[in-house]
Amino acid sequence: MPSFSELASHRSISKYRDYQEMFKLQDPFFQVHEQRSGAEAMIGGRGYANFASYDYLGLNQHPEVGAAAIAAIKKFGTSVSASRLVAGERPVHRELEAELSQFYDTEDALVYVSGHATNVSAISTIVGPKDIVFYDEFIHNSATTGAKLSGAKMVSFVHNDPADLESKLALYREDHKFALILIEGLYSMDGDVPDLARFIEIKQRFGAWLMVDEAHGLGVLGESGHGIAEHCGIDPNEVDIWMGTLSKTLSSCGGYVAGRRELIDVLKYQSPGFVYSVGMPAPATAAAVKSLEILQRSPERVARVQANGRYFLAQCKEHGLDTGLSEGHAVVPVIVGDAVLAIRLTDRIFKRGVNALPIIYPAVPLKSDRVRFFITSEHTQEQLSYAARVTREELDRLAGKGSHEKRLRPAG
Ligand SMILES: Cc1ncc(COP(=O)(O)O)c(C=O)c1O
Repeated sequence: MPSFSELASHRSISKYRDYQEMFKLQDPFFQVHEQRSGAEAMIGGRGYANFASYDYLGLNQHPEVGAAAIAAIKKFGTSVSASRLVAGERPVHRELEAELSQFYDTEDALVYVSGHATNVSAISTIVGPKDIVFYDEFIHNSATTGAKLSGAKMVSFVHNDPADLESKLALYREDHKFALILIEGLYSMDGDVPDLARFIEIKQRFGAWLMVDEAHGLGVLGESGHGIAEHCGIDPNEVDIWMGTLSKTLSSCGGYVAGRRELIDVLKYQSPGFVYSVGMPAPATAAAVKSLEILQRSPERVARVQANGRYFLAQCKEHGLDTGLSEGHAVVPVIVGDAVLAIRLTDRIFKRGVNALPIIYPAVPLKSDRVRFFITSEHTQEQLSYAARVTREELDRLAGKGSHEKRLRPAG
């Protein structure tokens, strides 16, 4: 009987544990947060400035969200105990879908129990072996997993490079029945955004569908938090498939697709992650409904997350940190280019009260290992400037450099 330790995936875990042992590092993964986490977290009985949670507008802390979830539990219980297709449909599901389709100005919307499963299930249902998927090389794992499962030909294009997409479409599009282009509204590892108008122009010219994953864009981009369409001044109807998650700004769990009625019909009756999976629990659905409502009446929260993101990015730049492509929209990586260094840096800043997690290969390309900071509307300027300063200081110490002050760039 072979051992599971022979699996290549297990060998890479062992290698990681060896590093941990070698450098006497605390494991940054699977940290237990002992309370509700947002701009702050309680870990091991100690309070931290927290940059590892994507509660972008602080709605997981909002009393109305918790109250809506409790009311839904009282009425519907903690589970809907069936797929929605059979006995799991509740009024709150329809309410959330109606709100989401109104939010995106689309004909309909559908929610799934998991954001990851939304991409896997929707993409693998929409396209098949005769089709082709063009995807940004930095697209989330859930999208490429869905594309692989579909059996469609997969072609990646250079990150955020419409010209490269165009050349690949010119090369491969006509040999396939349907073509699907996958991009994100706000890239979760890098914090940059696409030129949506360019992607729309190209997809129209080549007769391809454009699917935008708004997991991180919702509530963060655009003056009123309507995401990348608002950020770019584009009618959301120009995009064929809006996808997003309920786990970030909407402080719940699950995912959604919004678009034309026929698209939603196909997913509702054919996508396995919807048909053969339980419906979203009513409390999680009610929390998302309430969060969406609060988002729409709280432009000041959106303005705060945007101002905080810009401020943190500026602080990092002032300290000469490498923030890669980040445009300061709530996702700011500090790229160190080495997995062990990223893990050691995480450990050092954690000891100084800053919780931000390392993102290492294969989640990001080789030599672009980083510590990623999620910024929320609830962080204070003190927390943000402290985190940037401590990151600089600890990076210098790890590199055996002297005072970070010598490396400060003049502001402005
Ligand atoms: C861009 C993107 N899409 C999809 C997902 C999956 O969403 P969830 O974690 O809610 O399952 C994530 C997760 O963080 C994500 O970053």
